[in-house]
Amino acid sequence: MTIATGRTAPARKTRPLPPSRLLAGASPDSYIGLATHRKTYTLPPPPSAQPRYSLIDLMGAAGLLGRGGAGFPTARKLKAVADGPGPRVVVANGTEGEPPSAKDQTLMTHNPHLVIDGAVLAAAAVGASQVLIGVDRAHRRALEAMRAALAERTSTEGLGVDLRLAGTPSRYVAGEETGLVQWMNGGPAMPTSVPPRPFEKGVAGRPTLVQNVETLATMALIARHGPEWFRQLGTPDEPGGRLVTVSGAVGQPAVVEAPIGTPIGALIDAVGGPAAELSAVMVGGFYGTWLPVDALDTPYSRAGLLPLGASPGAGVVLALPASACGLAETARVVSWYAGESAGQCGPCIFGLADLSELFAQVAAARANRDDLETVRRWAGEIEGRGACKHPDGAARLVRSALTVFSDELTRHMSTGECRGNGRPVLRVPPPGKTWR
Ligand SMILES: Cc1cc2nc3c(=O)[nH]c(=O)nc-3n(C[C@H](O)[C@H](O)[C@H](O)COP(=O)(O)O)c2cc1C
Ligand code: SF4
Repeated sequence: MTIATGRTAPARKTRPLPPSRLLAGASPDSYIGLATHRKTYTLPPPPSAQPRYSLIDLMGAAGLLGRGGAGFPTARKLKAVADGPGPRVVVANGTEGEPPSAKDQTLMTHNPHLVIDGAVLAAAAVGASQVLIGVDRAHRRALEAMRAALAERTSTEGLGVDLRLAGTPSRYVAGEETGLVQWMNGGPAMPTSVPPRPFEKGVAGRPTLVQNVETLATMALIARHGPEWFRQLGTPDEPGGRLVTVSGAVGQPAVVEAPIGTPIGALIDAVGGPAAELSAVMVGGFYGTWLPVDALDTPYSRAGLLPLGASPGAGVVLALPASACGLAETARVVSWYAGESAGQCGPCIFGLADLSELFAQVAAARANRDDLETVRRWAGEIEGRGACKHPDGAARLVRSALTVFSDELTRHMSTGECRGNGRPVLRVPPPGKTWR
């Protein structure tokens, strides 16, 4: 099942992916209401029928890893919060600040009840009395669908837990868990220095479980069908399927649901194949890594991408056409990174601004060898120096660009020319405006 996210082009040969689990029954314009949802997914076992730790054990047996980017084992997080003092809180992270990613919006727009099922089950698992669902306030369709689903639930079945929806500021780091928690506590949506982590002291100072919305929806499926069913897809260490937003120079940009470990090239084929000759693919999103086109056979999994210094991140594959300059595209992303700094840590505020300025010179073929060395040094110096990992993403993307686009770099340095056609490919939004 694929849900188109953007422009269309003639479809090419695609390799079939297994039937959709998270988006079963969804079509591009569909909102799966409660009645259809119940027919498609049947009722999950009531939370009261599932003692807290058995639900956690179930997630442990399934081997579920978080789908928000870091891939942390869900059962460990659930247990850490359940072991804390009550009352506890669950935060569903549907902020999706990664610009090329549309998977959480797609899931919430088409199948909001599955996210709610997962959030209610997570609350039962950790013994939480309150659930807060954060959705970027600019993602209107997702917000509206979640709002409609909540209204349906409260007017019919009830939820058994205090569940609220919140429209969050459109800032990239607002989705980082400490930033989201600080915002829910009435502060700016900026990451805080840790510790304490949210699982110790989060919303209203209570132990708080922050979980990506896709992770929660997947929990709901595991509670219905069991760990063995879940493990039929994916790899032994990274079981299940996941949502991946595939875009760039492909036939029909779309969110696909694929078993973890599906080769990158098969993900591209699933959306109509390359729409042009490709020079590289970005995996993981802006908080990700450039890979050369000869890496298309690489499995889209943590283990598969690790040897290439990459990670699946939030589930993004972006195909870059050979007509674009990868250095110029990267320069635009680094400039966005600088604009999205929360302005709290020196290496992030000044380091990203300086890196962005100098990398723009590299992209414009106006840099010399000393400048290039400085870019490499600065990328190393900002990494791991922020209170959150925001600067690390820029450093990793820059480093991968210098490797993957080394031919372009040589041309820029030796001739002062760029072979790019000057037409931007990546949709880089302007930095957000408000932290509140
Ligand atoms: C800069 C930054 C931005 C992040 N943005 C998001 C986001 O938009 N959505 C999300 O679910 N997690 C995001 N995360 C990860 C969260 O901090 C957190 O790990 C995640 O919500 C946990 O859910 P999971 O275990 O289900 O993946 C971000 C992390 C960082 C460092
Ligand atoms: S590293 Fe940057 S984004 Fe993260 S907390 Fe510091 S200033 Fe904010």
